[in-house]
Amino acid sequence: MSSSSERPPDWPRHVAIIMDGNGRWAHRRFLPRLEGHRQGAKSVRRAVEFCRRHGIEFLTLYAFSTENWQRPSAEVSGLMKLLGQFLESELDELHANDIRFRTIGDLTRLPARLRTRIEAGQEKTRDNQSLVLSIALSYGGRQEILAAAQAIAHAVKMGELDESSITEDAFSRNLYTQGLPDPDLLIRTGGEMRISNFLLWQCAYTELYFTDVLWPDFDDQAFLDAVKAFTGRQRRFGMIAEQLGAGERAG
Ligand code: IPE
Ligand code: IPE
Ligand code: MG
Repeated sequence: MSSSSERPPDWPRHVAIIMDGNGRWAHRRFLPRLEGHRQGAKSVRRAVEFCRRHGIEFLTLYAFSTENWQRPSAEVSGLMKLLGQFLESELDELHANDIRFRTIGDLTRLPARLRTRIEAGQEKTRDNQSLVLSIALSYGGRQEILAAAQAIAHAVKMGELDESSITEDAFSRNLYTQGLPDPDLLIRTGGEMRISNFLLWQCAYTELYFTDVLWPDFDDQAFLDAVKAFTGRQRRFGMIAEQLGAGERAG
């Protein structure tokens, strides 16, 4: 791997990706869906390397949603196996490249072996600095918000928290993404224009980018196209253009 470099100032600091289109990629080639997921894993490697090379500090990838548990059991178990293999083959390299690995989502639903492997990977890479790679696994935005509301309600009931202290920051601290900045750019591959229960709270002011490129085909050029689109946008956060300095453009 090449060494990491400084992020251009107008580039996103945190990129989140809904990696969609693996099944269709396979279908078009008369291959089983799982082959699409296998190819998708190669795109994950490529996207991680892209972020590291360009100094993007946070990459959050939607790998498996709460709703994906409803897929045929062969696909679910195949995906779990692939995730285990991905960790097995990539973790040492992630660590060698100073990448911190973490997951967001309800790990209690994952097979015990995979969960153990994930926890070991998180522990091993916890002090790494060059990139935070978060994989959303068994993740649902609504479930995440509900769990936070329950935790906060419990703390209030126990007298540990005052109602007036439930600020946006306090709420965010109860989400899986605790410690991560909100995404600047959300990319969805595969042509659908929806959020599919991803980072509902965190994407309040995220720039959205949709591309027809299927996830296994998402290469450096496709990533660059998304970043270029981002740098051309003006983020106003509810204000008017005249209130914004040049620095507020994109990144
Ligand atoms: C995304 O690809 C990967 C997961 C949801 C696990 P899909 O499997 O949804 O691919 P399409 O949308 O059927 O093409
Ligand atoms: C979103 O893709 C979830 C992931 C990429 C992990 P889906 O394929 O599950 O989304 P829908 O069903 O088309 O909304
Ligand atoms: Mg899909």
